[in-house]
Amino acid sequence: MQDRIIIFDTTLRDGEQSPGASMNTAEKLRLAKQLERLGVDAMEAGFPASSPGDFEAVKEIAGVIKNVQVTALSRTSKEDIDQAWEAIKYAVDPRIHIFIATSDLHMEWKLQMNREEVLKSAIDAVRYAKTFTDNVEFSSEDGSRSDRDFLCRIFEAVIEVGATTVNLPDTVGYAFPEEYSALLSYVIKHTPNINKAILSVHCHNDLGLATANTLAGLKAGARQAEVTINGIGERAGNTSLEEIVMSLYTRNQLLPLTCGIKKQELYPTSRLVSMITGMPVQANKAIVGANAFAHEAGIHQDGVLKNPMTYEIMEPETIGLSSNRLVLGKHSGRHAFNVKLEEMGYQLNKDELNRLFKRMKALADKKKEILDEDLEALLGDEILRVPDTFKLEYLNVVSGSGAVPTATVKLIIKGKEEQSASLGVGPIDAAFNTIANMTGTKCKLLHFSVNSITGGMDALGEVTVRLKENDIIALGKGADPDIITASAKAYINGLNRLAYLNLNPVRKSE
Ligand code: KIV
Ligand code: ZN
Repeated sequence: MQDRIIIFDTTLRDGEQSPGASMNTAEKLRLAKQLERLGVDAMEAGFPASSPGDFEAVKEIAGVIKNVQVTALSRTSKEDIDQAWEAIKYAVDPRIHIFIATSDLHMEWKLQMNREEVLKSAIDAVRYAKTFTDNVEFSSEDGSRSDRDFLCRIFEAVIEVGATTVNLPDTVGYAFPEEYSALLSYVIKHTPNINKAILSVHCHNDLGLATANTLAGLKAGARQAEVTINGIGERAGNTSLEEIVMSLYTRNQLLPLTCGIKKQELYPTSRLVSMITGMPVQANKAIVGANAFAHEAGIHQDGVLKNPMTYEIMEPETIGLSSNRLVLGKHSGRHAFNVKLEEMGYQLNKDELNRLFKRMKALADKKKEILDEDLEALLGDEILRVPDTFKLEYLNVVSGSGAVPTATVKLIIKGKEEQSASLGVGPIDAAFNTIANMTGTKCKLLHFSVNSITGGMDALGEVTVRLKENDIIALGKGADPDIITASAKAYINGLNRLAYLNLNPVRKSE
């Protein structure tokens, strides 16, 4: 059996289904290019039949990505398969990924179909997809709760008509590792033609077992792992790509499998996903969390100084976490700036680099040292950029004990300068009220958070907001040493993204 596994990344599809994780086409494209750099074997770019926006995004990605199989998800209907194919037909190595639920629970209550109908539907779909491409994957949704003999029957049948990958998902994150591995072993033993296809695993993290289950599945004989960056995905998420890759690398003697991932790209990819989706990575997240390589206890620090292996099972440099804290400042030139961004793993075009350099210089006038985190905050602003329907020109807030918080705001609205003032219960509320009155937005503020990026009195404040209007949810980010200005910038960025999404709908919630 081959010992190189296929890494199938579904951040752009299952990952994007996380509540609040939303990407527009430009952001998806940027992430797709980073996934290619990371070295994934296949990327699931989306579910084209789910919305015109998804269709367009998948089509653009398929046209640009050259070294990775681009996959489109599809139900079993001909209409879905036609749309999936239309979106990926120009990809270098297009894959159609067909799924249908196979557990009795899902078949009875969700599909209202019996086993024979589901079997026929799966066979017909794979046969039809094969008329477009050789590369067809079949997934038995809720596979881990399906009757195991029915699973073998349906896998045998779809392989017979040409499925090249069969995937057995733990859709609701219910399985235990031994149970999942036993099910896969059973399927391998009782599906006569299983050797003609790659067996794949796809796990969700509802019980915090997604990584353990995926490793158990690989140990049992699966050779494709379906994963997402930072483990984002439906509900509690999917198996995290970085955890699988680093588990295989760190414990290779226990599970001697390899993959094509470039490990130094793990950390930059994680940062990019967090930036684009607005989903922070929890500090104690394995591999890529802020504390993953931090040693607080004195005994640990002492041990690590004497020999890092005492408490570090991996080296931070392996995942692309640079130990070199080259600090930029007022006098840094363009060269140091470009080198720094490259070291951090960001690939920007010339315009983006120029804009960012100017912003770095402006920040350096206010803040002595520009750390990686400051640069990331500025990068976040650039990466989340959409056309400016509204632009902040001026903000003045009066606040303090005894004063009624009042904000005066000057905005450029569709090219015209306007000014207004309003009150609020606090300075940020006053700024938001003024901006809302001026722009006429009826959006609801779903989420507001302020993060002090580097610590210290002159730290940059990064504000993230999530806004909802007409069923569309948009993320907004703003960074500034003044947190009221950062808040206003984030709010305006969110409004610009709402305006952009109203014109370019992606999915219902972005
Ligand atoms: O979790 C799941 O079952 C899925 C399938 C569509 C593969 O995401
Ligand atoms: Zn899934």
